[in-house]
This record gives sequence, C-alpha cells and structure tokens, in this order.
Amino acid sequence: MVRWQWFESDVAVRQAASRLIAQAASDAIQARGAFHLVLAGGSTPRAVYQTLSDLDTDWGAWHIYFGDERVLSPDHPDRNSNMAYEAWLAQVPIPPHQIHPMPTEQGLDAAATAYADLLRDVGDFDLVLLGLGEDGHTASLFPEHDWGVAGDAPDVLQVHDAPKPPPQRLSLSAHRLSRARQVLFLVTGAGKGAAVARWKNGEAIPAAAIHCDNGVDVLLDAAAWAGG
Ligand code: 6PG
Repeated sequence: MVRWQWFESDVAVRQAASRLIAQAASDAIQARGAFHLVLAGGSTPRAVYQTLSDLDTDWGAWHIYFGDERVLSPDHPDRNSNMAYEAWLAQVPIPPHQIHPMPTEQGLDAAATAYADLLRDVGDFDLVLLGLGEDGHTASLFPEHDWGVAGDAPDVLQVHDAPKPPPQRLSLSAHRLSRARQVLFLVTGAGKGAAVARWKNGEAIPAAAIHCDNGVDVLLDAAAWAGG
C-alpha cells in the first residue's frame, strides 16, 4: 500500500518529513528505548536533514544506518555519510558508535561483508528514509539491476555499474529496506514527475519494490505530483 501525501511546496515537504521523523523517534524511544533510522542520499533528503538539528529528543537513543553509499574517498563530500554529517549528524550528540556509515573505502567486497555482519544483529528498522531518482531508482537500486526482492536476498548488494555517478555503490536490498516499521520517501521537483507517474501506474520501478507491512508513505511537492 502506498500513501501519496501531497504538499504545496518543497519547504512543506521538509516540514512534514521533519515532524514524521520526530514522531517516529518519540514512539520508538517510548516503546523500545531506541530509534533505528536508515538514511538516504540525495538533495531532497539532505534538505530534510538540515531541519533536524533542533529536534527536542533523546539523541542518545538514536542509531543511524545508511540505505546506500557511493564508493568515493573517505573524506569526499558526495559520500552519503559525509553529506549527512555535514548537514546534521555533526551537530547532534548521537554517540559516534551508534552511527554506522558503510565503509566503502575498504572496497565493495569488504564493505558488503562488514555491513551484512553489522545488520545481522539489527532487527527491523524503525524508519527507513528513501529518495527517488528520475529513472525510478531508490537507494542504489537501479532499473535493470538486481534489487534483492526475494525473501532470501542478501541484506547488502554490490553495485558495479550504476547509471548515476559514481558507478560503484553499496546498497541495502529491497528486502532489507522493507524490514521496517515505517518507510518514508522524500520526493521534490518536476524532474521526478515521470518516475512518480510510472509508480502510480503500477510499473515495476525500483522504488515500487519497497514494501512495508504498515504501508509506504511518499511525501511529494506539487512539482513532482504535477508531472505524475
Ligand atoms: C544516492 C541516493 C539516491 C537518491 C535519489 C534521490 O546516493 O544517490 O541514495 O537513491 O536518494 O537519487 O536523490 P535527489 O533527491 O538528489 O534527487
């Protein structure tokens, strides 16, 4: 089940996303004493992260994972983890050992093994944040690639020829991203309209491979919606 939530502007999408993340954190911390959150890369997620530093929350209960990472040098600003630190994580007191970047600087084989080992002890995520690419990709699950949909798919997939640079990436599989209490897509801009239209028409784009028992929420602005 996909719930399309439409907002007038990208600013309104960011505000709504920020409220939903705060609510998910509060619910998880109250119920289980911890909040396990998966972050996305991309410009729309980045703008949401910039709104989160001022949240009134128990940062000590937050655990951060990444849905995908680009193979770039450790200090490269385009790494999703570096982007998230710069936009948000460096400004809040989440214990460093509870932030789990994908170690893609070790090479894809080693990084995939390390991240799969890490996730073995992690149950279902509380909240998975995802972006949407113009070609319908999400995380680093691209059209005409293996998205790891099957129940026995590995948690972590290596990507060697991504159409969006850089070509080498690591991604959680659709199966692992779907193991969540809540999944939230953040989609803004007219460039996303065609992908939104294909998703609404029931086409098998990568984003549509993410399922969640509680349904998937897609927050989008007027520009992205109009194109759909
Ligand atoms: C990445 C991503 C990717 C991204 C979408 C949307 O590392 O590139 O995780 O899936 O979220 O491409 O990105 P934009 O919001 O920049 O369009």
